[in-house]
Amino acid sequence: MPEKRLTNADLATMVETDNEWILSRTGIQERRILGPEEKLTDLTTAAARQALENSGVASSEIDLVLMATWTPEHLAPSVACATTRNLGIPQVPAFDLNAACSGFIYALSVADAYIRAGIYRKILIVTGEAQSRYVDYADRGTCILFGDGAAAAVVGAAEEGDSAGLLGLIMGADSTGSELITLPREGRIGMNGREVFKFAVKTMNDALGKSLTAANIHESQVDWLVPHQANIRIIDSAAERLSLPTERVVRNISEYGNTAAVSIPLALYEAWNRGDVKPGHILALVGFGAGFTYGSAIVRW
Ligand code: UT7
Repeated sequence: MPEKRLTNADLATMVETDNEWILSRTGIQERRILGPEEKLTDLTTAAARQALENSGVASSEIDLVLMATWTPEHLAPSVACATTRNLGIPQVPAFDLNAACSGFIYALSVADAYIRAGIYRKILIVTGEAQSRYVDYADRGTCILFGDGAAAAVVGAAEEGDSAGLLGLIMGADSTGSELITLPREGRIGMNGREVFKFAVKTMNDALGKSLTAANIHESQVDWLVPHQANIRIIDSAAERLSLPTERVVRNISEYGNTAAVSIPLALYEAWNRGDVKPGHILALVGFGAGFTYGSAIVRW
């Protein structure tokens, strides 16, 4: 994550808002944003290195790099290629994928398909967002929400006889909602917050139901819900859908705001790093975003 913090108090000096409003409506206290000299690829490279180290996989073993982002700082070279160059693996195939806040679930689905098809064995999924470069800091309806960051995961085939792995995944898009969140070229993020909210609650619940069915897992078996961190009230409604107590829901929105494609793997990383997520646990990942995209994955850790 970038070092620079943007607090609710900071935002109150920029637009007509206050800490009480932001906290009660969104659950956010602060976000991290890129410094003026900092680059998104500094973050994606650091996250990728850390994921390789934590997984014990050497960069030379990686067959493909998938980057999920909807806010690259440049369209070309792709963030994926800039990252492989920094990692010292410039010959590895690499591309960016834009499914906004559902980017990690979409990337997981692509990785899963390549691995099942026997095309690639080890895939590095990286997520990275430079949303602060695209936020309109005069629009109090959006500037309070978004933050920057990066997170990464190494994905490979489960060993034979290993019960851990991806049990079920669904993804989809409902483009009747395509105008609800927009980002024109050289423009700023635009959003109809109230409509997105309604869409999000319904979509998260539907997606969770479908992925649980695909995985043949009952909601009572879920150990951790790892939802996209968009708004604490949307997260609570997804938890309610699974009848999960708040202690079983990974929540870090107060510290980072909405980090789009980064938010699910970042939440998962923090829960794993704390020792909360243990081998054998059933995780329900779920996200939604501009497009209107959505996706959910059930994973046995
Ligand atoms: O990854 C997907 C990204 N997007 C989302 O997930 C967004 C989902 N939507 C939301 O999180 C919420 O809709 C928001 C947090 C964006 C807005 O909360 P809300 O409870 O839906 O507020 P609202 O848009 O219905 O606005 C209520 C009032 C309005 O004033 P009036 O018209 O009632 O006088 C707004 O102008 O709150 C006002 N308002 C604010 N007041 C203080 C809007 N933004 C602010 C603000 N501070 N930052």
